Amino acid sequence: MRKEVGDVLETGVLFRYGFDGARKGHWKAKAFESALSEKLGVKYCHLCSSGTAALSIALAACGIGAGDEVIVPPFTFLATIEAVINAGAIPVFSEIDETLCLDPKSIEAVVTPRTRAVITVHMCGAMAQIDQIRRLCDDKGLVLIEDACQAVGGTFRGKALGSFGHMGCFSFDAVKTITCGEGGAVITDDSNRYLLAAAFSDHGHDHIGNDRGLENHEILGANYRICELNAAVGLAQLRKLDCIIETQRANKKAIKDALNKYSEVRFRHLPDPAGDSATFLSFLLPSETRARQIAGALGQAGVDGCFYWYDNNWHYIRRWDHLRRLSSPAPLSITRLNHPSACDYNNLSLPQSDGIMSRTLSMQIKLSWTPAQLQQRIEAICGVFARD
Ligand SMILES: Cc1ncc(COP(=O)(O)O)c(C=O)c1O
Repeated sequence: MRKEVGDVLETGVLFRYGFDGARKGHWKAKAFESALSEKLGVKYCHLCSSGTAALSIALAACGIGAGDEVIVPPFTFLATIEAVINAGAIPVFSEIDETLCLDPKSIEAVVTPRTRAVITVHMCGAMAQIDQIRRLCDDKGLVLIEDACQAVGGTFRGKALGSFGHMGCFSFDAVKTITCGEGGAVITDDSNRYLLAAAFSDHGHDHIGNDRGLENHEILGANYRICELNAAVGLAQLRKLDCIIETQRANKKAIKDALNKYSEVRFRHLPDPAGDSATFLSFLLPSETRARQIAGALGQAGVDGCFYWYDNNWHYIRRWDHLRRLSSPAPLSITRLNHPSACDYNNLSLPQSDGIMSRTLSMQIKLSWTPAQLQQRIEAICGVFARD
């Protein structure tokens, strides 16, 4: 990583475009884009400043905007929903199933003549029923965007998560599987969407020729550019991805094998267990009461990194009070649409998702555990299940 970052610092060219002579052949953003598209088996990749930016870019490049309905899950990071609202579109919530991702049956139930897209989120490192969701979107003529921000390195039947939809989005923020510090990417096989994404994320620049001052602007856009320093970090990180996933899988397997003997534990449904990137071990308990009891006991036993999402105000809709109120410093177009489906999020009812999330715990899988620490952790976890 120091070498990649050093290359950039030595030339002093932090901007990802232009300065061809001064940069002495170092194009970190371009190099990361081609390495990532090769790794994920897609034709095109465009890096940007964050996963949130990637979602906004994907929506724009897929032509989703004012008044369009976009089906989203209630279990995600709020960025998924914010990107839809900021595009002027309307998030329409559908239920999740025991994959902890969108339930294909429930998607179908909320499609209306105004639905334009589905954003499926591969939560906690593993896949939605992406084959079924893609089929459904094709049947209904809907755009499919995959929010794979938490799932780089995950696959479904050998194909990269993020590569099933019309566009896929990734985050490389500081807590993701690989990081740029801050950064993101969109991927696609569609050249037109790729060109729109690259232009939209750079004020509409068409990037034709080698004089930025003379470039044309066919569309309005924004600044969602990544800089060379962040890209250099990501490029080095990408080389470690396989090793990171392998370590996560081994650590996860050890804990999962140990938990398997407790009949009350039901693991999250993984449509293809071999493609799990293994950032989390998620499981369901028989009741909300039992889930709360186990979450408390794990905390007391010193088992860190356990999440009871039902009470978490980042990831599950139940505690997104500001979304329910649509609080914003400036008027949102969604509130001015006068649209029958501009949802009353205060009265939204998602009983299937509540039933699942109120019983679900997720344990973070770390890379840094020594074999002894992993063993200690397993003993502490088993102690809780055996005792409480
Ligand atoms: C599912 C999901 N989508 C989008 C994002 C946004 O990514 P970023 O933090 O890079 O903006 C995150 C980040 O946590 C995420 O978990």
